Amino acid sequence: MKREPFQLGNILLPSNVFYAPLAGCSDFPFRKMSAKYRPGLMYCEMVKMDALIRHDAGTYHILDYSPDMHPIGGQLCGSKPQLAGKAARILEDLGFDVIDLNCGCPVDKVTKDGSGSGMLKTPELIGDVIANIVANVKVPVTVKIRAGWDEENIVAAQIVKIAEKAGAKAICIHARTRQQGYKGPANWDHIKACKQEAKTIKVIGNGDVLDGPSAEKMLTYTGCDAVLVARGTLGQPWIVEDILRYFEGLPAQTRTLEDCRQALYQHFLFTKSYQHDQKVCVDMRRVGCWYLKKSAGTRQFRELISKAGNMKVIEDLILNFPLEEIVGSQCEEETPNSDCC
Ligand SMILES: Cc1cc2nc3c(=O)[nH]c(=O)nc-3n(C[C@H](O)[C@H](O)[C@H](O)COP(=O)(O)O)c2cc1C
Repeated sequence: MKREPFQLGNILLPSNVFYAPLAGCSDFPFRKMSAKYRPGLMYCEMVKMDALIRHDAGTYHILDYSPDMHPIGGQLCGSKPQLAGKAARILEDLGFDVIDLNCGCPVDKVTKDGSGSGMLKTPELIGDVIANIVANVKVPVTVKIRAGWDEENIVAAQIVKIAEKAGAKAICIHARTRQQGYKGPANWDHIKACKQEAKTIKVIGNGDVLDGPSAEKMLTYTGCDAVLVARGTLGQPWIVEDILRYFEGLPAQTRTLEDCRQALYQHFLFTKSYQHDQKVCVDMRRVGCWYLKKSAGTRQFRELISKAGNMKVIEDLILNFPLEEIVGSQCEEETPNSDCC
């Protein structure tokens, strides 16, 4: 397997290893860290179409980006075709390279109005929403779906056809059902079935890509064109580099716990220069545990950060945290499952 550029509609991406939208996680500092390693494409956290159209300040804040983050995708959540076109134009005017439609968010408050994974119940409406986006922008349009609402209602392959007809350039399949949430293994057979159905639309596989071997296995097993890494990016902004090295048969770059600490420190500096102090404290509790997950003592680290009153205390905690390799046991903090998306 080789590192190759990836053609998505009218744009050429540096590779076929992409970073997922992660609500509450893939924020500006996270993307600053990711940008250092040049993923083929990175997506922002999802934003609601109606909030974008009514110029909600918080929504625009989520979409902040810097030039080094290109190529970058913006993701829309909503189910109204007319709003979709308008919202997509706003994202394009903001400079996003790709526009994605979210048809996978499992959260009740999103699905109850038929948005997110709620759209899996109305496949034809997905086509209408995509068509309206495509009619309003010049940049490539993608859609991210789940396999189906539940095991009895697997609709992914059907949606591939609909999305292709509506003009989407790629479809990302998160190979879990809405009912599964984020639990249990992703079933890559769904991605394989989608690839078999696709004629011109590119298929992006998603679910359980955590390193080079799993990325290669997904590409080979399903025949998909690209992979989207989600939880595997948390605390490992370099994962694209690891995966591409693996494709090329190069040995993995060794990363010591100290390297992870230094990356955390860099992430902290990005966060500090972007967020207000209180938000930095809240964020670093979570972010710290991602980077230090291979060390013992993260639970205590989290507690100490919670009590930290100012930036200097957090800085000292990060720089002086006693690193200790965990041997033969599970890490203390679990990878998050989204409670927001
Ligand atoms: C914390 C969290 C936030 C997420 N936010 C989004 C989102 O904003 N948009 C989206 O399409 N998917 C979102 N997802 C789903 C992921 O993009 C991805 O589809 C899922 O985690 C499966 O990939 P993985 O097994 O590699 O983690 C989120 C998942 C998590 C865990």
